[in-house]
Amino acid sequence: MLTNRLKSDLQARIAHAVTNREAAVDVIKELQRHYGWLTDEAVAEAAGLLGLTPLQVEELATFYEMIYRRPVGKRVVHVCDSISCWAMGGESLMAHLAAKLGVEPGGTTADGMFTLLPCCCLGNCGEAPTLMIGDTLYGRVTPERGEEILSNARETAATVPEGPGTPQEEENV
Ligand code: FES
Repeated sequence: MLTNRLKSDLQARIAHAVTNREAAVDVIKELQRHYGWLTDEAVAEAAGLLGLTPLQVEELATFYEMIYRRPVGKRVVHVCDSISCWAMGGESLMAHLAAKLGVEPGGTTADGMFTLLPCCCLGNCGEAPTLMIGDTLYGRVTPERGEEILSNARETAATVPEGPGTPQEEENV
């Protein structure tokens, strides 16, 4: 359920947008941050706030890779599988991280900490292979460096317990 504070914050954002649709992704991402993923309840709330139908919200939600319509771990690890990253070892990186976490791509670790997802180009092709956790991009990620990034993300999550989309403290590399 939405808090009154979050509800009025979202209403203010919508009021400042030129059209409600312009604010839609922002609203959806905030609801996702609130619930941890975009629940059916969140879809209905977004629709109510934005004056859209739940189906319209659903269409937007399923278009964006960073919107999760299923439960995810505290941190979602997006590993790019587009051409530049694939050519620079992205496949081995994904396989290594999957083995380390004990999940298949798309899966969530038993402790609920990480969801590992392949994704389309993250716009960081010059630094391939790339992965992203929260809002932080990591470039030129070797399998070993990937492990280190996960280990840091695990430590950060212990002190910053918010859900997916939470910016990590580590700088881009
Ligand atoms: S192909 Fe991976 S970031 Fe563009």
